[in-house]
Amino acid sequence: MTAGPPPSGPQPPCPLPKAELHLHIEGTLEPGLAFRLAERNGVPLPYAGPADLAAAYAFTSLQSFLDLYYATMAVLRRADDFADLARAYLARAAAQGVRHAEIFFDPQAHVARGVPLAEVMRGLGQGLAAGGERFGVSTGLIACFLRDRGPGAALDCLDQLRGYRDQIIGVGLDSAEVGYPPEPFAEVFAAAAREGLHRVAHAGEEGPPGYIWQALDVLGAERIDHGVRCLEDPALVRRLAADQVPLTVCPLSNLRLRVAASWADVPVREMLDAGLLVTINSDDPAYFGGYVDDNFQGLERELGLDGETLRQLAANSFRASFRASAPLRPAAVLPAPPARPAPPARPAPRPSG
Ligand code: ADE
Ligand code: ZN
Repeated sequence: MTAGPPPSGPQPPCPLPKAELHLHIEGTLEPGLAFRLAERNGVPLPYAGPADLAAAYAFTSLQSFLDLYYATMAVLRRADDFADLARAYLARAAAQGVRHAEIFFDPQAHVARGVPLAEVMRGLGQGLAAGGERFGVSTGLIACFLRDRGPGAALDCLDQLRGYRDQIIGVGLDSAEVGYPPEPFAEVFAAAAREGLHRVAHAGEEGPPGYIWQALDVLGAERIDHGVRCLEDPALVRRLAADQVPLTVCPLSNLRLRVAASWADVPVREMLDAGLLVTINSDDPAYFGGYVDDNFQGLERELGLDGETLRQLAANSFRASFRASAPLRPAAVLPAPPARPAPPARPAPRPSG
């Protein structure tokens, strides 16, 4: 059988293969799915329908978004809901070129609403396994502590997560940033490090550069989520560049939450020019008007980033991922290994024959 003629006319661009490293699974709850789950669970939403809910996505700050984000999560009640959410995300992610996703979730936000952690973990586990296989995306879960609930609640959360150790690859720090610096979470991050968990933290989204220093030096964060405010501190930029600390930048999020007033204020070019290891991500795509490749397309269309730069950003995402299970870095919050005596010198191998 001979192949037919090649399709004529413009072809849709093929999205670059990439890893997504900053994605809140709860932030992938599309209005349509929110209403289906609301009906399935008998949880009323205070909107006439999906379009009415979407019309409420006019955010003025991180907090204005978080209020709606936490309220809409009310429809997630059972394992099946989390499974449907995860599978739907992976279908969309695969269509946007995502081959690997390291996915945040907010255990405390669900447990506080009376949803058992077991339901959350079972549903996410099922949805990610089924969706990952169906759509060819590998995944890892990162449990985020809610910084506005404080370090004691984060320690309780880590205790509960110990029962699901094999389901998570790391811990993160998210939610309201200004007024909630990283430093008080030193103990819980040190405990997570002792469990062999990776550590990341939102810092420098709305909060000052000092929060990024703390995330690095006090929490031992291996990646900084957002981090765009690092540019205000040249010494910090030098440190991030020298250590090649990955920054998970989310342009559409920055625009929707008014971290950046316009595309011209999305500092991806400046960050690349400063030698930073920038990756591009979608954060809460159902709320911010696009998934990860939509962010790439925005950078090309609005900032004029060329193909080589976009390929570099996509390559950075794999380099910055924990997929290769890169050695945990740095040792800042880990106890120093006990000094070991030097091993006895080995005798040189004897020449054979
Ligand atoms: N939780 C979900 N999205 C977030 C963001 N952009 N910043 C902090 N916490 C979040
Ligand atoms: Zn985020």
